Amino acid sequence: MLRTHTCGELRVSNVGQTVTLAGWVQKGRDLGGLTFVDLRDRYGITQLAFNMDTEAELCSRARKLGREFVVKATGLVRERESKNKNIPTGEIELIVTHFEVLNESITPPFTIEENTDGGDDLRMKYRYLDLRRTSVRNNLFLRHKMTQQVRAYMDSQDFIEVETPVLIKSTPEGARDFVVPSRMNQGEFYALPQSPQTFKQLLMISGFDRYYQLVKCFRDEDLRADRQPEFTQIDCEMSFVTQEDVLNMFEGMIKHLFKTVKGIEIGALNRMTYADAMKYYGSDKPDTRFEMLFVELNNEAKGKGFPVFDNAELVVGICAKNCADYTRKQVDELTDFVKRPQVGASGLVYVRVNADGSIKSSVDKFYDEATLKVWAEKFGAVPGDLLLILAGQADKTRKALNELRLEMGTRLGLRDKNTFSCLWVIDFPLLEFNEEENRYFAMHHPFTSPKPEDEELLSNPEMIGKVRANAYDMVINGVEVGGGSVRIFNKQLQAKMFEVLGFSNEEAQKQFGFIMDAFQYGAPPHAGIAFGFDRLCSLFGGADSIRDFIAFPKNNSGRDTMIDAPSTIDEKQLKELNISVIA
Ligand code: AMO
Repeated sequence: MLRTHTCGELRVSNVGQTVTLAGWVQKGRDLGGLTFVDLRDRYGITQLAFNMDTEAELCSRARKLGREFVVKATGLVRERESKNKNIPTGEIELIVTHFEVLNESITPPFTIEENTDGGDDLRMKYRYLDLRRTSVRNNLFLRHKMTQQVRAYMDSQDFIEVETPVLIKSTPEGARDFVVPSRMNQGEFYALPQSPQTFKQLLMISGFDRYYQLVKCFRDEDLRADRQPEFTQIDCEMSFVTQEDVLNMFEGMIKHLFKTVKGIEIGALNRMTYADAMKYYGSDKPDTRFEMLFVELNNEAKGKGFPVFDNAELVVGICAKNCADYTRKQVDELTDFVKRPQVGASGLVYVRVNADGSIKSSVDKFYDEATLKVWAEKFGAVPGDLLLILAGQADKTRKALNELRLEMGTRLGLRDKNTFSCLWVIDFPLLEFNEEENRYFAMHHPFTSPKPEDEELLSNPEMIGKVRANAYDMVINGVEVGGGSVRIFNKQLQAKMFEVLGFSNEEAQKQFGFIMDAFQYGAPPHAGIAFGFDRLCSLFGGADSIRDFIAFPKNNSGRDTMIDAPSTIDEKQLKELNISVIA
């Protein structure tokens, strides 16, 4: 090897040893008689010292080293006079007796240090340089550790990792597919998997019993901080199990990850029905790090002559503890916040439960103090609290109040990144109605089974929206980190499901014939789940964006600006594929 030690390794115990290091020049400093160079590698930074009095030629060569030059240096480890307590190697330095430039570097487009001058776009274009920065590299180390611990747990539970194909036929997960034209079958296309859903079910029919895979999935959907067009799932499936078994197995996995990766013991996960999540948090992925539950006020607030509430389907609010002294400006800010198009409320009503016990509201004209007191009691408000109330169409109002609740949680410092609140959301509806297409879609996917007690409602058009599924999500700090379901394993029920989703027999056969056929050969009862691995990593790392935990991510327009993809392909390739591009 070109080195005897790494740049993160040497300590006072190495003083007196002759060693060789190799790495990148982080920066240099000239102090007259002495020149210092910080040498960096994956493991850390070590200070190289060059003495002008004793090694003049070496020292003047060292002064010419540029940032990011690749250098190999040999010398004697010496205890430093002025120690740097901020780095593990800060007590020693290397008095260089010989060094060699292994490669030069042109000036990097941004400084490769923690406080870099590089903006987001520049760092993405030169991601290989960004990855030299400690924090970015540490994110990938965390990801590596998570991968190892996922595999350790799954292996301990007898799961087998099986790879499934990447060139497949479209799977119905709701997003658009990325497609790949076939040269050998002109006019035909493969789709990249949105998930290995059908394959893992086929593996259950094959008798694998417990399958998992750390697998790339592809979805052509609008991108956000927690969405990438290609992302990684921990995809899992089990046979001969109930929903309870799956929840327990993967509760075990998440506990194992918290314990081994973060050293945190998390207790048993709470469970909340979808109906409760919507009623009390206005979201199917509630952030349960803090309470501030929704309180409905229809009975107390309607019929008193205030038209906004009288005409509303739902009057609902939250209680912000110790916020009664919010200034006019602060309340106006919140009103502007809820009126933003993304939030969509038409206005905000507030009630101050003042420290002296008096109550003042923005709707005093319509409600006397005695009525407002009843509201305050319903919220469990005490002097010093502020009630924030929205009204309107029920679903929209709940959605807007969810945004306001999260905003208040942030403002009040209740969303600490080092606190983790994990829960299962269960009993999702099987179907959701799409107004634009005027038909039902599977809320999870078409292979999800209805709850046996709700199954007969599938034949009742009035009640079909009320059918609940054996489907569950794991939610951590308001992020949906995983979702799964107990599957249909019977051909008739699967056919019924396709019928409900508006597929003709022919369409169902064309798209899903392979799995319907397979169900006829002894399909076992099975159930599974998939976790968004990038999301789990970013949660564990305390970051908002999953991009920070992906080595080479895409930007919000789905571009990789480093390799400049997507890009056009040449005429010859198009011809071979028999594709003409319409400009
Ligand atoms: P689902 O579609 O809920 O289920 O996906 C599972 C988990 O994958 C993560 N996820 C994403 N992460 C990053 N970028 C994206 N674009 C993205 N889309 C989804 C989420 C989500 O909870 N086959 C089923 C699972 C099953 O039923 O077993 C499926 O894919 O964290």
